[in-house]
Amino acid sequence: MKITWLSHSCFELIESMKILVDPYVRDNPRAPKPVDELDPDLVAVTHGHADHLGDAEKIARRTGSPVLAVSEVARYLDGLGVRSEGMNIGGSFQVGDVLFTMTPAVHSSDITVTDPPRCGGEAAGFVIDDGIRVYHAGDTALFSDMRLLGELYRPDVALLPIGGRYTMGPREAAIAASWIRPHLVIPMHYNTWPKIRQDPTEFRDLVETLCDSEVVIVEPGDAVEC
Ligand code: NI
Ligand code: MN
Repeated sequence: MKITWLSHSCFELIESMKILVDPYVRDNPRAPKPVDELDPDLVAVTHGHADHLGDAEKIARRTGSPVLAVSEVARYLDGLGVRSEGMNIGGSFQVGDVLFTMTPAVHSSDITVTDPPRCGGEAAGFVIDDGIRVYHAGDTALFSDMRLLGELYRPDVALLPIGGRYTMGPREAAIAASWIRPHLVIPMHYNTWPKIRQDPTEFRDLVETLCDSEVVIVEPGDAVEC
């Protein structure tokens, strides 16, 4: 699988299909490429905040790719005439060879791309199984059921927020890694703006003291093969 970090919480996963998660592009100061160059087969959105739902509507309209999201966000997109697939926490949904499981996240989720914001249901994460299993945690606090996610889904790769303030910081995210025990961890949701400034090497050093997971620090636009 080729995993490309498009900065913030936005990743492109390519194996049997091209999956784009949390497409925050046009308003993202660190986005490595313009929104018109993204051509996913499917867009997965963890929650309604503008830095996650982002450009999902625009991309889905142009490419015709469906948007996978929690029911409330899916209904909002349906109302705009965008093809969407709703699901909810704890459920799985098979698309082609890929199994998507929606996981809990401890966070809020109003749809902030509208004015005024609307109810976006619950915030979530995903385990995406396309042969390689990737856990995208979304925006979340540390919660002890991450141990269960590790046991149940055995992710090969975990994408964890480390920015603090709105999500886990390096200390909490390092504990999350030690509970999930993936082979590889890629930190996300940091240094997009001054409010979530972090040193990812601090996170890497903490993980090294707690478990065997390898932390790979990538730059926006960089890809990891696994
Ligand atoms: Ni959020
Ligand atoms: Mn966020």
